[in-house]
Amino acid sequence: MSYPRIRPRRLRRTPALRRLVAETRLDPAELILPMFVREGLTEPRPISSLPGVVQHSRDSLRKAAAEAVQAGVGGLMLFGVPAERDATGSGGIDPAGILNTAIRDVVAEVGDATVVMSDLCLDEFTSHGHCGLLTPAGDVENDATLRAYAEMALAQATAGVHVVGPSGMMDGQVAAVREALDVAGFTDVSILAYAAKYASAFYGPFREAVESALDGDRRTYQQDPANLRESLREVALDVAEGADMVMVKPALPYLDVLAAVRAAVDVPVAAYQVSGEYAMVEAAAANGWIDRERVMLETLTSIRRAGAQMILTYWAVEAADLLRRTG
Ligand code: PBG
Repeated sequence: MSYPRIRPRRLRRTPALRRLVAETRLDPAELILPMFVREGLTEPRPISSLPGVVQHSRDSLRKAAAEAVQAGVGGLMLFGVPAERDATGSGGIDPAGILNTAIRDVVAEVGDATVVMSDLCLDEFTSHGHCGLLTPAGDVENDATLRAYAEMALAQATAGVHVVGPSGMMDGQVAAVREALDVAGFTDVSILAYAAKYASAFYGPFREAVESALDGDRRTYQQDPANLRESLREVALDVAEGADMVMVKPALPYLDVLAAVRAAVDVPVAAYQVSGEYAMVEAAAANGWIDRERVMLETLTSIRRAGAQMILTYWAVEAADLLRRTG
């Protein structure tokens, strides 16, 4: 019997050896915390399908933003939940709307200590829940929606946001937003494009978080989960239109897409670990079926390894604390 001379196990022998040869590391600076703020709340309100995540009041949002900065997270992604909605989503454009107000609040609180980002989409503000404007027949109208996104981008930039995140999957949305920002002199505001965004059932709990009014689905604008090459086309278009960073969403079920996008472009690539990904782990952990913290870090590590440089995750603050403690 011959014994192996080459033994990969030698490098796994002690924690110090494993740490030395680790190919992927997580850093709090790469984690982005999505946050919800609900118009009219005086206290934060829990979201039952996202244990540990809340709809913030304006006050609690400011406090939580400051805590996230303390934890060292790389950025905050703000979502607004208005008290009233209408067919054109005017609350997203109104400077006094909840999201634009929240941007001003958070920027006043944290300044440049972290990167303040905002969701640029109409779905939280429309009475029908779609990401764009509808034709009389009920179809989502691409080019009219672009004009609304351009106005929304200006409102968010005026409120002081560092990065806008167009997430509606309209054709030409990055170009429309870039042009509107540049013409108005906001050449320094960056675009994190939701470039490859799938029509995913993993967004379920998010719909509760934003009290979505959607009846139906988004399959005429979000991508078919069956497709990968289509993502490369979407990403190439967004980069050509001026995206500073691109995102793949959801994350864990789309690691192959993430790896392909990483290989195809030079701009920073982000992944969004979405509400359903988070909720599945929380539910299994609450039942005692999995080790919550280990699964949390394993999912984040996998998403990094596949090619995401930045990760949007509802665990951002907790994971950042954990990483600092366990180093
Ligand atoms: C659209 C938007 C959605 C999410 C982020 N931005 C919902 C959708 O496209 O239906 C989902 C995020 C999550 O599930 O955590 N504004």
